[in-house]
Amino acid sequence: MSTLPAQQSAAHLLPGRQVHTDPGLMAQIVAAAADAIFSEDLDGRITSWNAGAERLYGRPAREMLGKDTETLLPEETAEQLGNVHALALSGERVEHFDTWHLRPDGTRVPISLTVSPLRDASGAVAGLATIAKDVTERLQHSAALEEAHRTLEKQHVALRRSNRDLEQFAYVASHDLAEPLRVMTGFVQLLEKRYADVLDERGRRYVFHVVDGAARMRILIGDLLEYSRFLRSEPGSEAVDTNAVARRAVASADAADVEIGDLPAVWCDEAAVFAVLQNLISNAVKFHRPDLTSHVKVAGEVIDGVVQLSVDDDGIGIEEEYRERVFGMFSRLHVREEYAGTGIGLAIVQQVAERSDGRAWVETSPLGGCRFCITLPAPPKSRGTA
Ligand SMILES: Nc1ncnc2c1ncn2[C@@H]1O[C@H](COP(=O)(O)OP(=O)(O)OP(=O)(O)O)[C@@H](O)[C@H]1O
Ligand SMILES: [Mg+2]
Repeated sequence: MSTLPAQQSAAHLLPGRQVHTDPGLMAQIVAAAADAIFSEDLDGRITSWNAGAERLYGRPAREMLGKDTETLLPEETAEQLGNVHALALSGERVEHFDTWHLRPDGTRVPISLTVSPLRDASGAVAGLATIAKDVTERLQHSAALEEAHRTLEKQHVALRRSNRDLEQFAYVASHDLAEPLRVMTGFVQLLEKRYADVLDERGRRYVFHVVDGAARMRILIGDLLEYSRFLRSEPGSEAVDTNAVARRAVASADAADVEIGDLPAVWCDEAAVFAVLQNLISNAVKFHRPDLTSHVKVAGEVIDGVVQLSVDDDGIGIEEEYRERVFGMFSRLHVREEYAGTGIGLAIVQQVAERSDGRAWVETSPLGGCRFCITLPAPPKSRGTA
């Protein structure tokens, strides 16, 4: 069995240099190290055992010196670690090998091993030095991370499923309900036309309500179908001329007093941008103050590579507490008799924003009413030009 003075291995690490170390210095460093550091001879008997090893394995040096390192190995890792030792004995250093060692009470401690050959004065391998790092904390962290990852994955699957269900529901509700509704409406209209003189006043009123209800249901179903179109489709990837779309939206909203600023192009699809501007402009016009027509301003700017479009009005405004709720499906703050509508417009606006990773919100306008804003991506070449 060769003896291996500590300073000899330090000299070996710095070939060609004269190392003038206090002979006890390396021993002190090894003693102070947080990790377990021990050496063994060619027969696997322990020749040194630092304080870190005493802490990690819970065994004092006096008990371990001369002991076989096999006492540290759980049965299932013996073969694997035998291979690591064989490799180190052949002259190679094995770094950061994750495995388990045994404590005297039989518990396993997860460790990361670095095993280096130790050479004698002639350069022949005379033993092994092992640094064992306790990686319990790292394992706990990675187990917690994996658990968090699994939970996220599960939530993601559940969310995707519920989104798919919602898309399916919106589509089925809007598409398949349209057909029976058409049949009902047709026959009630026939009833109204052909049997008007057979029915008394009350009968005619009932039929009128059925026809009216069916007409409203048709609009609702149409709105739902429009909404589900944006739920089901990916955002487009084309540069949309927002100015032209805004002019079309103003024409379709039959709005008079609408100012359109110089709007930047967005990276989306024309149908979606039209739906957004048409809904926001028609709302701005619709929710005017009693006896006054609205003054509406459409503006846009590029902020940090993202286009922010805004529609301002001097209408009735929305109280702070309702500003999130108005984006919900069929969510309205007024009865039909006061302001017509089904409450799907802003849900579409929000859907268009979200499918492009944008945002839609409402704040108070300097004009006195609402300022609705939406962010959409800018076309690639204009990104980064704030
Ligand atoms: N510019 C606005 N000023 C004041 N209130 C508004 C404005 N825009 C929207 N709102 C409020 O938000 C609600 C939801 O708007 P949304 O556009 O979704 O529905 P709607 O206009 O009532 O119906 P639809 O757009 O389906 O015809 C409106 O009913 C209204 O109460
Ligand atoms: Mg609307």
